[in-house]
Amino acid sequence: MSRNKIVLAYSGGLDTSILVRILTEDYGYDVIGCHADVGESKDHEKLKAKARQAGAVACEVVDAKEEFARDFCFPALQANALYQGVYPLSAALSRPLIARHLVAAARKHGATAVAHGATGKGNDQVRFDFAVKGMAPDLKILAPQRERNISRDAAMAYAEKHGIEVPTSKKSPFSIDENLWGRSIEGGVLEDPSQEPPEAAFAWTKSFADAPNEPAVLKIGFEKGLPVSVDGKKLSPVALITKVGKIAGDNGVGRIDLMEDRVVGIKSRETYECPAAVVLITAHQDLERFTTLGDSLRMKATLDKRYSEIIYDGFWYSPLRLALQAFNDEHAKTIEGEVTLKLCKGSVRVIGRTAKHGIYNHALATYGEGDKFDHRAAEGFIQLLGLQLYEFSRQHGGVK
Ligand code: ARG
Repeated sequence: MSRNKIVLAYSGGLDTSILVRILTEDYGYDVIGCHADVGESKDHEKLKAKARQAGAVACEVVDAKEEFARDFCFPALQANALYQGVYPLSAALSRPLIARHLVAAARKHGATAVAHGATGKGNDQVRFDFAVKGMAPDLKILAPQRERNISRDAAMAYAEKHGIEVPTSKKSPFSIDENLWGRSIEGGVLEDPSQEPPEAAFAWTKSFADAPNEPAVLKIGFEKGLPVSVDGKKLSPVALITKVGKIAGDNGVGRIDLMEDRVVGIKSRETYECPAAVVLITAHQDLERFTTLGDSLRMKATLDKRYSEIIYDGFWYSPLRLALQAFNDEHAKTIEGEVTLKLCKGSVRVIGRTAKHGIYNHALATYGEGDKFDHRAAEGFIQLLGLQLYEFSRQHGGVK
Protein backbone atom coordinates (compact mmCIF):
# COMPACT_ATOMS: atom_id res chain seq x y z
CA MET A 1 0.00 0.00 0.00
CA SER A 2 1.37 3.41 -0.86
CA ARG A 3 2.12 5.74 1.99
CA ASN A 4 0.75 9.23 2.46
CA LYS A 5 3.05 12.06 1.54
CA ILE A 6 4.12 14.94 3.73
CA VAL A 7 6.07 18.07 2.78
CA LEU A 8 8.61 19.16 5.38
CA ALA A 9 10.09 22.67 5.63
CA TYR A 10 13.72 21.63 5.33
CA SER A 11 16.61 23.86 6.34
CA GLY A 12 19.44 21.35 6.03
CA GLY A 13 20.28 21.62 9.72
CA LEU A 14 20.35 18.86 12.30
CA ASP A 15 16.79 19.40 13.54
CA THR A 16 15.01 19.18 10.22
CA SER A 17 17.29 16.35 9.04
CA ILE A 18 16.24 14.12 11.91
CA LEU A 19 12.63 15.14 11.28
CA VAL A 20 12.83 13.57 7.83
CA ARG A 21 13.59 10.26 9.52
CA ILE A 22 11.09 10.68 12.36
CA LEU A 23 8.26 11.49 9.95
CA THR A 24 9.19 8.47 7.86
CA GLU A 25 9.66 5.96 10.67
CA ASP A 26 7.30 7.05 13.42
CA TYR A 27 4.58 8.84 11.48
CA GLY A 28 4.64 6.58 8.42
CA TYR A 29 4.92 9.22 5.70
CA ASP A 30 6.93 9.55 2.52
CA VAL A 31 8.75 12.81 3.17
CA ILE A 32 9.33 15.52 0.58
CA GLY A 33 11.79 18.18 1.70
CA CYS A 34 11.03 21.76 0.71
CA HIS A 35 13.44 24.66 0.97
CA ALA A 36 12.62 28.20 -0.08
CA ASP A 37 15.84 30.17 -0.32
CA VAL A 38 15.21 33.64 1.12
CA GLY A 39 18.83 34.69 1.11
CA GLU A 40 20.69 32.48 3.55
CA SER A 41 23.20 31.52 0.83
CA LYS A 42 23.07 27.74 1.01
CA ASP A 43 24.21 25.39 -1.74
CA HIS A 44 21.03 24.10 -3.37
CA GLU A 45 22.49 20.86 -4.70
CA LYS A 46 24.05 20.03 -1.34
CA LEU A 47 20.74 20.68 0.37
CA LYS A 48 18.92 18.28 -1.94
CA ALA A 49 21.58 15.61 -1.44
CA LYS A 50 21.38 16.05 2.33
CA ALA A 51 17.62 15.69 2.35
CA ARG A 52 17.85 12.51 0.29
CA GLN A 53 20.59 11.18 2.55
CA ALA A 54 18.36 11.79 5.57
CA GLY A 55 15.65 9.72 3.89
CA ALA A 56 13.50 12.15 1.90
CA VAL A 57 11.88 10.71 -1.26
CA ALA A 58 12.25 14.10 -2.97
CA CYS A 59 13.39 17.63 -2.22
CA GLU A 60 12.18 20.89 -3.73
CA VAL A 61 14.61 23.81 -3.51
CA VAL A 62 13.37 27.13 -4.81
CA ASP A 63 15.24 30.39 -5.18
CA ALA A 64 12.63 32.64 -3.55
CA LYS A 65 14.75 35.75 -3.04
CA GLU A 66 13.02 38.05 -5.54
CA GLU A 67 9.65 36.76 -4.42
CA PHE A 68 10.56 37.39 -0.79
CA ALA A 69 11.78 40.90 -1.53
CA ARG A 70 8.83 41.86 -3.73
CA ASP A 71 5.92 40.15 -1.99
CA PHE A 72 6.99 40.30 1.65
CA CYS A 73 9.83 42.74 2.42
CA PHE A 74 8.46 45.57 0.26
CA PRO A 75 4.90 45.39 1.61
CA ALA A 76 6.43 45.46 5.11
CA LEU A 77 8.45 48.50 4.06
CA GLN A 78 5.32 50.24 2.78
CA ALA A 79 3.91 49.76 6.29
CA ASN A 80 7.17 50.93 7.93
CA ALA A 81 6.72 47.66 9.79
CA LEU A 82 8.60 47.56 13.08
CA TYR A 83 7.35 45.24 15.81
CA GLN A 84 7.30 47.01 19.17
CA GLY A 85 8.74 50.00 17.37
CA VAL A 86 12.13 48.47 16.53
CA TYR A 87 12.15 44.96 14.99
CA PRO A 88 11.70 44.93 11.17
CA LEU A 89 10.15 41.43 11.34
CA SER A 90 12.75 39.67 9.19
CA ALA A 91 12.13 36.15 10.52
CA ALA A 92 8.40 36.75 10.79
CA LEU A 93 8.13 37.73 7.10
CA SER A 94 9.83 34.61 5.79
CA ARG A 95 7.41 32.16 7.42
CA PRO A 96 4.39 32.93 5.22
CA LEU A 97 6.63 32.69 2.15
CA ILE A 98 7.98 29.30 3.25
CA ALA A 99 4.41 28.20 3.96
CA ARG A 100 3.38 29.25 0.44
CA HIS A 101 6.05 26.93 -0.97
CA LEU A 102 5.08 24.11 1.38
CA VAL A 103 1.52 24.31 0.10
CA ALA A 104 2.67 24.47 -3.54
CA ALA A 105 4.89 21.40 -3.05
CA ALA A 106 2.06 19.59 -1.30
CA ARG A 107 -0.20 20.22 -4.30
CA LYS A 108 2.49 19.21 -6.77
CA HIS A 109 3.22 15.92 -5.01
CA GLY A 110 -0.32 15.18 -3.87
CA ALA A 111 0.67 15.36 -0.20
CA THR A 112 -1.99 15.35 2.51
CA ALA A 113 0.09 17.08 5.19
CA VAL A 114 2.94 19.49 5.81
CA ALA A 115 5.43 19.61 8.66
CA HIS A 116 7.82 22.11 10.20
CA GLY A 117 10.53 22.00 12.82
CA ALA A 118 9.38 24.89 14.99
CA THR A 119 9.32 24.41 18.76
CA GLY A 120 6.39 24.99 21.08
CA LYS A 121 7.96 28.10 22.64
CA GLY A 122 8.33 30.37 19.67
CA ASN A 123 6.38 32.48 17.21
CA ASP A 124 7.35 30.52 14.13
CA GLN A 125 5.00 27.59 14.89
CA VAL A 126 2.11 30.07 15.05
CA ARG A 127 3.12 31.68 11.75
CA PHE A 128 3.55 28.37 9.92
CA ASP A 129 0.30 26.96 11.22
CA PHE A 130 -1.79 30.06 10.48
CA ALA A 131 -0.22 30.52 7.04
CA VAL A 132 -0.80 26.93 5.98
CA LYS A 133 -4.34 26.87 7.37
CA GLY A 134 -5.04 30.27 5.81
CA MET A 135 -4.06 29.06 2.35
CA ALA A 136 -4.94 25.39 2.48
CA PRO A 137 -7.48 24.48 5.16
CA ASP A 138 -7.48 20.82 4.02
CA LEU A 139 -3.81 20.16 4.80
CA LYS A 140 -2.81 18.56 8.08
CA ILE A 141 0.08 20.17 9.95
CA LEU A 142 2.61 18.21 11.97
CA ALA A 143 5.25 19.70 14.24
CA PRO A 144 7.11 16.78 15.84
CA GLN A 145 9.54 19.08 17.65
CA ARG A 146 6.59 20.72 19.38
CA GLU A 147 5.13 17.32 20.31
CA ARG A 148 8.34 15.77 21.53
CA ASN A 149 10.61 18.61 22.66
CA ILE A 150 13.73 16.89 21.35
CA SER A 151 16.89 18.28 22.98
CA ARG A 152 20.00 19.01 20.97
CA ASP A 153 21.86 16.08 22.54
CA ALA A 154 18.99 13.72 21.80
CA ALA A 155 18.92 14.98 18.20
CA MET A 156 22.67 14.33 17.84
CA ALA A 157 22.31 10.82 19.29
CA TYR A 158 19.36 10.09 16.98
CA ALA A 159 21.30 11.29 13.95
CA GLU A 160 24.27 9.14 14.85
CA LYS A 161 22.13 6.06 15.44
CA HIS A 162 20.43 6.43 12.06
CA GLY A 163 23.49 7.45 10.05
CA ILE A 164 22.17 10.93 9.30
CA GLU A 165 24.85 13.45 8.37
CA VAL A 166 25.34 16.10 11.04
CA PRO A 167 26.92 19.47 10.38
CA THR A 168 30.67 19.03 10.74
CA SER A 169 31.46 22.70 11.32
CA LYS A 170 31.75 23.77 14.93
CA LYS A 171 28.27 24.57 16.14
CA SER A 172 27.69 28.26 16.76
CA PRO A 173 26.69 29.00 20.34
CA PHE A 174 23.73 30.94 18.92
CA SER A 175 20.51 30.04 17.19
CA ILE A 176 20.42 32.03 13.97
CA ASP A 177 17.76 32.80 11.41
CA GLU A 178 18.72 34.92 8.44
CA ASN A 179 17.31 36.25 5.22
CA LEU A 180 17.50 39.34 3.03
CA TRP A 181 15.58 41.48 5.50
CA GLY A 182 17.71 40.67 8.53
CA ARG A 183 19.36 38.28 10.89
CA SER A 184 18.13 37.14 14.28
CA ILE A 185 20.49 35.81 16.93
CA GLU A 186 19.26 34.00 20.02
CA GLY A 187 20.51 31.78 22.83
CA GLY A 188 23.66 31.41 24.90
CA VAL A 189 24.89 34.54 26.65
CA LEU A 190 22.23 36.59 24.87
CA GLU A 191 19.68 35.13 27.27
CA ASP A 192 21.07 37.41 29.99
CA PRO A 193 19.38 40.72 29.14
CA SER A 194 21.80 42.67 31.33
CA GLN A 195 24.80 41.73 29.19
CA GLU A 196 25.88 43.44 25.99
CA PRO A 197 25.78 40.99 23.05
CA PRO A 198 29.31 39.80 22.25
CA GLU A 199 30.80 40.80 18.87
CA ALA A 200 30.70 37.12 17.87
CA ALA A 201 26.91 37.37 17.67
CA PHE A 202 27.09 39.77 14.73
CA ALA A 203 27.97 38.91 11.15
CA TRP A 204 26.52 41.71 9.02
CA THR A 205 27.22 44.86 11.01
CA LYS A 206 30.49 46.39 12.13
CA SER A 207 31.08 47.37 15.74
CA PHE A 208 31.34 51.01 16.73
CA ALA A 209 35.15 50.64 16.88
CA ASP A 210 35.52 48.94 13.50
CA ALA A 211 33.14 51.18 11.55
CA PRO A 212 34.88 53.93 9.57
CA ASN A 213 35.07 57.45 11.00
CA GLU A 214 34.06 58.96 7.66
CA PRO A 215 30.29 58.83 7.12
CA ALA A 216 28.81 57.17 4.05
CA VAL A 217 26.23 59.14 2.10
CA LEU A 218 23.52 57.25 0.29
CA LYS A 219 20.71 58.40 -1.99
CA ILE A 220 17.69 56.12 -2.32
CA GLY A 221 15.13 56.69 -5.08
CA PHE A 222 11.47 55.66 -4.72
CA GLU A 223 8.67 55.16 -7.22
CA LYS A 224 5.11 54.46 -6.08
CA GLY A 225 6.35 54.09 -2.54
CA LEU A 226 8.94 51.42 -3.34
CA PRO A 227 12.72 51.79 -3.53
CA VAL A 228 14.05 51.48 -7.08
CA SER A 229 17.53 53.03 -7.13
CA VAL A 230 20.65 53.70 -5.09
CA ASP A 231 22.70 56.77 -5.98
CA GLY A 232 20.76 57.08 -9.23
CA LYS A 233 21.38 53.50 -10.32
CA LYS A 234 18.28 51.34 -10.87
CA LEU A 235 18.39 48.03 -9.03
CA SER A 236 16.14 44.99 -8.67
CA PRO A 237 14.56 44.54 -5.23
CA VAL A 238 17.10 41.89 -4.17
CA ALA A 239 20.11 43.83 -5.52
CA LEU A 240 18.87 47.01 -3.86
CA ILE A 241 18.30 45.41 -0.46
CA THR A 242 21.70 43.69 -0.68
CA LYS A 243 23.51 46.89 -1.62
CA VAL A 244 21.87 49.06 1.03
CA GLY A 245 22.44 46.32 3.61
CA LYS A 246 26.14 46.13 2.82
CA ILE A 247 26.74 49.87 3.11
CA ALA A 248 24.64 50.12 6.26
CA GLY A 249 26.29 47.10 7.87
CA ASP A 250 29.76 48.40 7.09
CA ASN A 251 28.82 51.53 8.99
CA GLY A 252 27.45 49.59 11.95
CA VAL A 253 23.84 50.48 11.25
CA GLY A 254 21.01 48.05 12.05
CA ARG A 255 21.82 46.41 15.40
CA ILE A 256 18.72 45.91 17.51
CA ASP A 257 18.31 44.70 21.09
CA LEU A 258 14.69 44.14 22.07
CA MET A 259 12.93 42.86 25.17
CA GLU A 260 10.28 41.24 23.03
CA ASP A 261 6.77 39.94 23.68
CA ARG A 262 6.20 36.67 21.88
CA VAL A 263 2.77 35.59 20.68
CA VAL A 264 2.93 32.68 23.13
CA GLY A 265 3.29 35.01 26.10
CA ILE A 266 6.99 34.60 26.76
CA LYS A 267 9.05 37.75 27.27
CA SER A 268 12.41 37.22 25.59
CA ARG A 269 15.56 39.14 24.82
CA GLU A 270 16.05 39.26 21.06
CA THR A 271 19.08 40.46 19.16
CA TYR A 272 18.95 41.38 15.50
CA GLU A 273 20.94 43.00 12.77
CA CYS A 274 18.75 44.36 10.01
CA PRO A 275 20.91 46.95 8.23
CA ALA A 276 18.96 47.21 4.97
CA ALA A 277 15.54 47.25 6.62
CA VAL A 278 16.48 49.96 9.11
CA VAL A 279 17.86 52.28 6.42
CA LEU A 280 15.06 51.67 3.93
CA ILE A 281 12.34 52.22 6.51
CA THR A 282 14.03 55.45 7.64
CA ALA A 283 14.16 56.68 4.04
CA HIS A 284 10.63 55.56 3.16
CA GLN A 285 9.12 57.17 6.22
CA ASP A 286 10.84 60.44 5.43
CA LEU A 287 9.61 60.50 1.85
CA GLU A 288 6.09 59.68 3.03
CA ARG A 289 6.19 62.72 5.33
CA PHE A 290 7.31 64.86 2.40
CA THR A 291 4.82 63.66 -0.20
CA THR A 292 1.60 62.82 1.60
CA LEU A 293 -0.97 64.68 3.69
CA GLY A 294 -0.54 64.94 7.44
CA ASP A 295 -4.03 63.54 7.89
CA SER A 296 -3.18 60.39 5.91
CA LEU A 297 0.04 60.01 7.90
CA ARG A 298 -1.82 60.15 11.21
CA MET A 299 -4.21 57.43 10.07
CA LYS A 300 -1.43 55.38 8.55
CA ALA A 301 0.70 55.44 11.71
CA THR A 302 -2.12 53.62 13.50
CA LEU A 303 -2.57 51.13 10.67
CA ASP A 304 1.20 50.59 10.31
CA LYS A 305 1.42 49.52 13.92
CA ARG A 306 -1.44 47.09 13.40
CA TYR A 307 0.14 45.79 10.18
CA SER A 308 3.36 45.07 12.09
CA GLU A 309 1.48 43.12 14.74
CA ILE A 310 -0.36 41.15 12.06
CA ILE A 311 2.96 40.08 10.56
CA TYR A 312 4.41 39.23 13.95
CA ASP A 313 1.35 37.28 15.06
CA GLY A 314 1.29 35.21 11.89
CA PHE A 315 -1.85 36.56 10.23
CA TRP A 316 -0.22 37.33 6.86
CA TYR A 317 -2.91 35.39 4.96
CA SER A 318 -5.87 37.13 6.50
CA PRO A 319 -8.57 39.46 5.18
CA LEU A 320 -7.39 42.25 7.49
CA ARG A 321 -3.82 42.13 6.18
CA LEU A 322 -5.10 42.25 2.59
CA ALA A 323 -7.40 45.18 3.37
CA LEU A 324 -4.55 47.13 4.96
CA GLN A 325 -2.40 46.27 1.96
CA ALA A 326 -5.01 47.80 -0.34
CA PHE A 327 -4.88 50.97 1.78
CA ASN A 328 -1.08 51.04 1.55
CA ASP A 329 -1.09 50.50 -2.21
CA GLU A 330 -3.48 53.41 -2.70
CA HIS A 331 -1.45 55.56 -0.32
CA ALA A 332 1.80 54.68 -2.16
CA LYS A 333 0.68 56.05 -5.53
CA THR A 334 2.08 59.53 -4.96
CA ILE A 335 5.25 58.62 -3.04
CA GLU A 336 8.03 59.40 -5.47
CA GLY A 337 11.39 61.05 -4.96
CA GLU A 338 14.85 60.64 -3.50
CA VAL A 339 16.07 60.59 0.09
CA THR A 340 19.67 61.24 1.07
CA LEU A 341 20.98 59.60 4.21
CA LYS A 342 24.18 59.85 6.19
CA LEU A 343 25.42 56.70 7.90
CA CYS A 344 28.15 56.76 10.50
CA LYS A 345 29.18 54.48 13.35
CA GLY A 346 25.81 52.88 13.93
CA SER A 347 23.67 55.92 13.27
CA VAL A 348 21.54 56.75 10.26
CA ARG A 349 20.17 60.18 9.59
CA VAL A 350 18.17 61.68 6.75
CA ILE A 351 19.99 64.77 5.52
CA GLY A 352 17.84 65.74 2.53
CA ARG A 353 15.06 64.77 0.18
CA THR A 354 13.66 65.82 -3.21
CA ALA A 355 10.30 65.01 -4.80
CA LYS A 356 8.66 66.31 -7.94
CA HIS A 357 5.28 66.46 -6.19
CA GLY A 358 6.31 67.12 -2.60
CA ILE A 359 3.58 68.76 -0.53
CA TYR A 360 6.18 71.14 0.85
CA ASN A 361 5.87 74.57 -0.76
CA HIS A 362 8.69 76.98 -0.02
CA ALA A 363 6.51 80.02 -0.74
CA LEU A 364 4.09 78.91 2.01
CA ALA A 365 6.69 77.75 4.53
CA THR A 366 9.32 80.44 4.30
CA TYR A 367 10.03 83.02 6.98
CA GLY A 368 12.18 84.80 4.44
CA GLU A 369 11.63 86.60 1.14
CA GLY A 370 8.88 85.44 -1.22
CA ASP A 371 6.30 84.57 1.45
CA LYS A 372 2.95 83.86 -0.30
CA PHE A 373 1.06 82.71 2.79
CA ASP A 374 -2.00 84.79 3.70
CA HIS A 375 -1.29 85.50 7.38
CA ARG A 376 -4.67 87.10 8.01
CA ALA A 377 -6.50 83.87 7.01
CA ALA A 378 -5.14 82.30 10.22
CA GLU A 379 -7.27 84.52 12.42
CA GLY A 380 -10.65 83.16 11.28
CA PHE A 381 -9.28 79.64 11.29
CA ILE A 382 -8.19 79.89 14.91
CA GLN A 383 -11.50 81.50 15.85
CA LEU A 384 -13.44 78.47 14.59
CA LEU A 385 -10.98 75.81 15.74
CA GLY A 386 -11.12 77.17 19.28
CA LEU A 387 -14.85 77.98 19.28
CA GLN A 388 -15.95 75.27 21.71
CA LEU A 389 -13.01 75.83 24.04
CA TYR A 390 -13.81 79.54 24.21
CA GLU A 391 -17.43 78.74 24.99
CA PHE A 392 -16.55 76.19 27.68
CA SER A 393 -14.10 78.59 29.24
CA ARG A 394 -16.73 81.38 29.27
CA GLN A 395 -19.31 79.06 30.92
CA HIS A 396 -16.92 77.89 33.66
CA GLY A 397 -14.98 81.05 34.21
CA GLY A 398 -11.89 79.51 32.67
CA VAL A 399 -10.37 76.01 32.77
CA LYS A 400 -8.29 75.57 35.89
N1 ARG B 1 11.91 36.52 17.78
C1 ARG B 1 11.99 36.59 16.37
C2 ARG B 1 10.63 36.42 15.76
O1 ARG B 1 9.79 35.87 16.37
C3 ARG B 1 13.02 35.67 15.81
C4 ARG B 1 12.61 34.27 15.52
C5 ARG B 1 13.74 33.49 14.94
N2 ARG B 1 13.38 32.15 14.63
C6 ARG B 1 14.21 31.12 14.73
N3 ARG B 1 13.72 29.95 14.45
N4 ARG B 1 15.46 31.25 15.10
O2 ARG B 1 10.36 36.86 14.68
